Amino acid sequence: MLIPENKISEILNASDIVDIVSESVILKKSGQNFFGLCPFHSEKTPSFSVNPAKQIFYCFGCSAGGNAISFVMKYHGLSFLEAVKMLARKHNIVIETRQMDPAKRAEIALKESLFNLNKNIMAYYAGLLRQDSSADGARQYLAKRGITRATMDQFHLGYAPDQWQGVVDFFKKQRIVRKTALQSGLVLPRKQNNGFYDRFRNRIMFPIFDINMQVAGFGGRVMDDQMPKYLNSPETPVYSKSRILYGLHAAKQYCRKAGTVHIVEGYFDFLSLFQNGIKNTVASLGTALTSEHIRILKGYAPTVVLVFDSDAAGINAARRSIKLFMKEGVDTRILVLPRGDDPDAFVVNHGPDAFLDLAGKAESVMQFLLKVAMDTHGLSVEGRIRILDEMKPHLADIQDSALRSLHVKELAETLNIDERAVLEKIKEQVVHGHQGRYSLSGSSEDPSDENRFLSSDPREKQLLSLMLLCPDIIPEVVDSGVMDCFYSQRLCSIAKIIANADPLEASFVNHVMAKMQHDKDRQLIASLAMAQGPDKDTDMRKTAISIINRIIRIKKRKENILTTKIIHAEKGCDADVMELLKMKQQEIRQLHDGQ
Ligand code: UTP
Ligand code: MN
Repeated sequence: MLIPENKISEILNASDIVDIVSESVILKKSGQNFFGLCPFHSEKTPSFSVNPAKQIFYCFGCSAGGNAISFVMKYHGLSFLEAVKMLARKHNIVIETRQMDPAKRAEIALKESLFNLNKNIMAYYAGLLRQDSSADGARQYLAKRGITRATMDQFHLGYAPDQWQGVVDFFKKQRIVRKTALQSGLVLPRKQNNGFYDRFRNRIMFPIFDINMQVAGFGGRVMDDQMPKYLNSPETPVYSKSRILYGLHAAKQYCRKAGTVHIVEGYFDFLSLFQNGIKNTVASLGTALTSEHIRILKGYAPTVVLVFDSDAAGINAARRSIKLFMKEGVDTRILVLPRGDDPDAFVVNHGPDAFLDLAGKAESVMQFLLKVAMDTHGLSVEGRIRILDEMKPHLADIQDSALRSLHVKELAETLNIDERAVLEKIKEQVVHGHQGRYSLSGSSEDPSDENRFLSSDPREKQLLSLMLLCPDIIPEVVDSGVMDCFYSQRLCSIAKIIANADPLEASFVNHVMAKMQHDKDRQLIASLAMAQGPDKDTDMRKTAISIINRIIRIKKRKENILTTKIIHAEKGCDADVMELLKMKQQEIRQLHDGQ
C-alpha cells in the first residue's frame, strides 16, 4: 500500500461516516443504524444503512458497502488515493506522497494544476466582465437578459475577450507548461503547429463547478446569433459532462430542503430560476442526462421535475431521459411548459409563483407518456392497441414489480382493456425486448444438479461474519484448520486477513477493512459485519463451531467424489475426461471467488 496503514487509520478515525454520507444521502435514524435511499442503485424504499458504531455503510439492496473511504470513492468516482486525500484534506491531515507510484502522483498533480488553472482563468474572465471596456457589450447583454449583478458575482460569470491570444498570453505569463495548457481545453494548437489559440473568444463565460466547488470547465455563449450559440469545455481530466450538473454546487442545500429538484436544459434557464428564488434547480447543459447524473441527484432529493419546452425537440428529449429515470426508480415528474416558453422566458414573463404552481401539478412519467401516445394515436380500437404497444417497453423497464403492477392497472383502466391482456403484452416485451434475460416473476429457478453443485456455501460467509462480530472466537477458527477447507479462495484469504488483524483495535471491523486492497473486499466486509449474529457471545461460539464442522465435512466429501472420478479417469487413461474434471475443479473455485 502506498499510504502507510497508520495514516489511513488516522484519517478514518478523524472522519465520521454519518457526516460524510449525510452530505449526499438523506439519512434517518432507526435503531442503531441510519437508513436512506441508496445512491448506488435504484430504489424507492431505503435499504442503504450506515452504522455509526462500526463506521461502515452497507446497502441491503445492492450490497454496496465499505467504510468512509469506500463511500467517497464510489460516490465521487475517485480512486482510493484520491478519496484518502480528499478526506485527509478535510481533516487537515498531511500525507507524505513521496512513495507514491509516479504515474498516480503525476495524475493527481495534473488534476490539481488544472483546477488551479481553471480558477485563475475564471478570475481573469470575471475581471474583464466586471470592468474592462471591451466587455461593455457583454454587460449590456446580461442586463438585457435580466441577470443581476449579484447573480453574476455568485456564479462568477465572465467575459472571454475577442482575441486569439488572451488566455494564451495569460498562460505564458504564468509559465504554464504546454501539456497542461492543452489539457485544460482552454487553448487549441494552431494548424501550423506553431503555438496555441484561445478556444473561447468574445463570449459570455459560465464557469462550471463540480460538487466540491472546484472549477471543472466552462461554457461560453455568443451575444448575437452566431453559431455555435454555446461552446463548452471538452472532456478533460477534471471535466466529465456525464457527471457534472450546472449549478448543483449552489443548489444542493435547497434541493435537500425542498425534497425536489428541477432539471432544466440551459445556463440561462438555471440562472433565471435561481435568481427568482427557485433555487432547487440544476441544468443538464443540453446534453443527454446519464444514469450517473441521476444517481448524484438522488442523493439530494427524492423527487425530480424534468422541465421541458413544449416543442417537439423538448418532448423528444423528455421521452429519452424518462427511460433512465424509470430505471433508476426515481419519482419523476414531467413539466412541459406552455408553447413558446423555455424556463427562463416563463419565469421572466409569469413570475416564480406561476412556475411553482405548474411544477406542483407536473404529471407523472406514465401520465405524460400516455398523454403523448393518446394525442398521437387516438382512442379507436386500433389506436388503443398502438398505445399499448408504445407503452409496453416503458412498463417493462420498471424494475420494481409492485410499482409496475400499479401502472399496468392504471393503463388497463384508462384504455378500458383487460388487465391480463396488458400483462401478456408486457411479458412479450420482456422476453423479446431483452433477449429473454429477465423474467417477470423474478425467480427463474433451474434446479439442475450442475447448478446446485456450483452454488456457493453460505457457511463460509457466515463464519467470516461471526469472526467480525466476535473476534474472541478467532483463535478457535484458526486452530480448526477450517480456513484451508474453504471452497472460495477469495473468502479463504479474507479469513486469513481477519485472523491476522489485531483484536484489540477499537474498531475491529474498520481495522480489518483498512487491510483490504480492493474495494470489493471492503464491501464484502461491510456486508458481513452488518449481519445479525446470535445475541450472546456463547451462542456465537456454538454457531461457529457447528459451521466449522460442517465446512470441513463437506470439503472432505466433495474431495472424495472428485478424487474418485479423477482416479477413474486416470486408470482408464481418459486424458480428456481428466483434463475436463481438473478444469471443472478450477472453474468451481473461480466461480466461488467471483461471488
Ligand atoms: P437552448 O438553445 O435551448 O438555449 O440550449 P437557452 O439556454 O435557451 O439559451 P438562450 O436562452 O438562447 O441563451 C439549451 C442548452 O443547451 C446547450 C447549452 O447548455 C444551452 O444552455 N447548448 C445549446 C450547447 O451546448 N450548444 C449549443 O449550440 C446550443
Ligand atoms: Mn432560452
